[in-house]
Order: sequence, then structure tokens, then C-alpha cells
Amino acid sequence: MARFTLPRDLYHGKGSLENLKNLKGKKAVIVVGGGAMKRGGFLQRAEDYLKSAGMEVMLIEGVEPDPSVTTVMNGAAKMIEFGPDWIVAMGGGSPIDAAKAMWIKYEYPDCTFEDMCKVFGIPELRKKAHFCAIPSTSGTATEVTAFSIITDYDKGIKYPIADFEITPDVAIVDADLAETMPQKLTAHTGMDAMTHAIEAYVSTANCDYTDPLAIHAIEMIQADLVKSYNGDMDARDRMHNAQCLAGMAFSNALLGIVHSMAHKTGAVFADLGAHIIHGAANAMYLPKVIAFNAKDETAKKRYGVIADYMHLGGANDDEKVKLLIDYLRAMNDKLNIPHCIKNYGADSFPTEQGFVPEEVFLERLPAIAANAIGDACTGSNPRQPSQEEMEKLLKCCYYDTEVDF
Ligand SMILES: NC(=O)c1ccc[n+]([C@@H]2O[C@H](COP(=O)([O-])OP(=O)(O)OC[C@H]3O[C@@H](n4cnc5c(N)ncnc54)[C@H](O)[C@@H]3O)[C@@H](O)[C@H]2O)c1
Ligand SMILES: [Zn+2]
Repeated sequence: MARFTLPRDLYHGKGSLENLKNLKGKKAVIVVGGGAMKRGGFLQRAEDYLKSAGMEVMLIEGVEPDPSVTTVMNGAAKMIEFGPDWIVAMGGGSPIDAAKAMWIKYEYPDCTFEDMCKVFGIPELRKKAHFCAIPSTSGTATEVTAFSIITDYDKGIKYPIADFEITPDVAIVDADLAETMPQKLTAHTGMDAMTHAIEAYVSTANCDYTDPLAIHAIEMIQADLVKSYNGDMDARDRMHNAQCLAGMAFSNALLGIVHSMAHKTGAVFADLGAHIIHGAANAMYLPKVIAFNAKDETAKKRYGVIADYMHLGGANDDEKVKLLIDYLRAMNDKLNIPHCIKNYGADSFPTEQGFVPEEVFLERLPAIAANAIGDACTGSNPRQPSQEEMEKLLKCCYYDTEVDF
């Protein structure tokens, strides 16, 4: 028995932001990030559309990348004071995820962050507000997913909140918003989307409903991500849809240990100035995890199917897995993303010796591995790693060495 949940309405295509005019309610709060939406004029337009729908509008601005528990709690306090019946979150994954967590706290002021992190343990929402999400990056697909990622900076750990209760009611996928993305953001979010689609396809929770979404997303991302990175705006527009399809797949099929490892390495070296950006972490770890998971026969076959859809050739599944890994590594090169943590340098570009020194990595490795095993995304990975295997895998992700176990 399984469940497949998506937003009730999804508006897509350039100009679809205008559908905000059709929301029905009295008060709307708009949650945004650091200014990209304001600079592009999208925040003003959203505000105008909501006002033309007869709503009073309040803004919560300045949600930081990888939002903190504090940001969530402060935003929720503002919502409790204002009393919106619509929460409209606009921007990258960060403001939308923060708004989802604020929504929980707004509806249940006694709910603590620890309560929120109980997987599929969120009480019934929509007693106070409905939720509309409008993405401006082409990657997280949080506009259609049951997830929100919040960082506890005291612990240096990202926690996924997971429950279909936080799947938005309305998603507006308007490619105009993604056209202002700089190259690096395009690369990282695009590889995040590729990872979502591949992990969803090989997840133990995959099903007939999620497979076609994952496969089509993979085909589209293969065709369009590098072009989008190089400034082709038609490809950029298609990537906005592709990432959303990948999100529909993984929200219902779940993910795997690429994400577990990305969640647990993203903030843990922040004291060294090394914030490992989510999409870059995924891009580095994905080829390693494919090699690890391919020891599972079912996963190997599924990677083979992906390679077939990508027209990579190969006479048998072993060859197809190898070709898939090579292809993804070549994509990283074209997108200027390093292959391993050791080479992860300033601005996330490849460099000889990156932010994270070997001794610090090795010292923190046992804890990172244990945390990654405990991450909510590990349960649906096709192969369950032991502590020893996870440490070995993370070492391969640090040194860019071959996974042969
Ligand atoms: N909820 C989910 O299902 C899910 C899935 C994957 C990742 N995540 C989380 O989402 C976060 C990452 O989100 P993200 O990759 O979308 O980036 P982000 O929201 O963190 O934004 C990154 C930067 O890009 C800027 N930006 C956003 N849109 C822009 C645009 N159109 N033009 C110019 N600049 C723009 C932002 O202002 C910010 O400075 C991470 O915390 C990650 O863990 C969530
Ligand atoms: Zn992701």
C-alpha cells in the first residue's frame, strides 16, 4: 500500500505568476529570501496580484540560504501576529522550506523543532492557512514536495522535515523567475534535480506512478542542463519543468544516501568556511553512490534502464553503470563542479586543495557517517550501508577514489 500526493493545482509556463490573482482569502504573507525576487520585480508583482485579489499582504524577507531554526521560529511569530490564510513562499528552496516550517509552527504554536522532525508526524495543517509555493531555482522542487530542510547550526546538521501535510496546495512553476539565476546556481540546482530523479528511480519506494516522472526528468535534464548553464534560455525554461517532475517523483518515491551524505556534510565544515552547497554535494557524491548501490542487483538493473534512456550504450548492466558514472562525472566537468570534497574550493569551484583539510575530515568522519546513516533518506536507499561502509564511501567522496566494495 502506498500514497501518491501532489499539490491540488500546479500552474506552469512563463507568466503563470499571474495566477496569484485567483487565490481566495483575506490575508497573505509572502516569504522570500535575500533580494533576488525583489531585484527581478517578482516580489512587487506578487504583492500586486494578491492585493488585486482583495488580500492584505505582509512580507517576511531575508530568509538566508539553508535556513536556520531561529529564522523559522521568528517568521512563525510574525505569522501568529498577522494571521494569514495564505502563505505564499517565493524564491529558492531555502525561503520555501523555511515557510513550510513556519507554517507548522503557525498552526501549532506549541510544536517544537524536535516535534517537526518526527518523520510523517506532523499534525493536520490547513486549519489556519493554505500554502502556495513559487520556485525561482530549478532544483529542489520543494514547490511539490513533502519535505523541508532546516539547519540546526548549533549541531551543524541539516534536518529534513517530511510529511505530506506540508506538500503545498498550489505550485506556480513560472520559468521567468529562473532566468535570472547565475551560472553557478544553475549548475548546482540542476545537479540536485538530476540526483532527485536518479535516487527516486532506484529508491526501494519507487512505483509505477513515480518511475515515468523520474525517467522523463532524467531525459530532460540530460538534454538541457548544460545548455541552460551556458545561457540557452529555452533550455533554462525546460529545466524549470524538469526539476519539478523530478520533485514529483522523489516526493513520493523518496531519495537515497546521496542526500543523506549531502545533508550531513553540508554544514559540518562551516567553521572552516566550507559550506558545501547542497547541489554540489549531490553532484560529487552521486557517481560514488551509484558504484556502491550497483552491488545490489535490482539497483544495478535500474541504473541500466536509466543508461538506456540516456542512450549511453553498453552491452550489459555492468558496462551501463560504468557509462552512467562516466557521463555524470563529465557533466560535473562541464558545469565546473569538483569531483570530491578535497578539491572543493572557494566559490565551490574545483581546486587542488580545498577548504577541508584531510585531518579535520578524518577526525569528523565517524560522526558524519553515523549521522548520514541516521538520516531520513537512508531508509529508502537500495543498499543499507554499515558504519564501516559509510565511512569508506565518504572517504571515496573526499579523495575521489574508486568505490570497489
Ligand atoms: N524541500 C525539499 O524537498 C528540498 C530538496 C532539495 C534541497 N532542499 C534544500 O533547499 C536549499 C537549497 O535551495 P536552492 O538550491 O533553491 O537555493 P537557495 O534557496 O538556498 O538560494 C541560493 C541563492 O540563490 C539566490 N537566488 C534564488 N533564486 C534566484 C534567481 N532566480 N536569480 C538569482 N538568484 C537567485 C538566493 O537569493 C540565494 O542567495 C537547501 O537548504 C537544501 O537542503 C530542499
Ligand atoms: Zn536535493
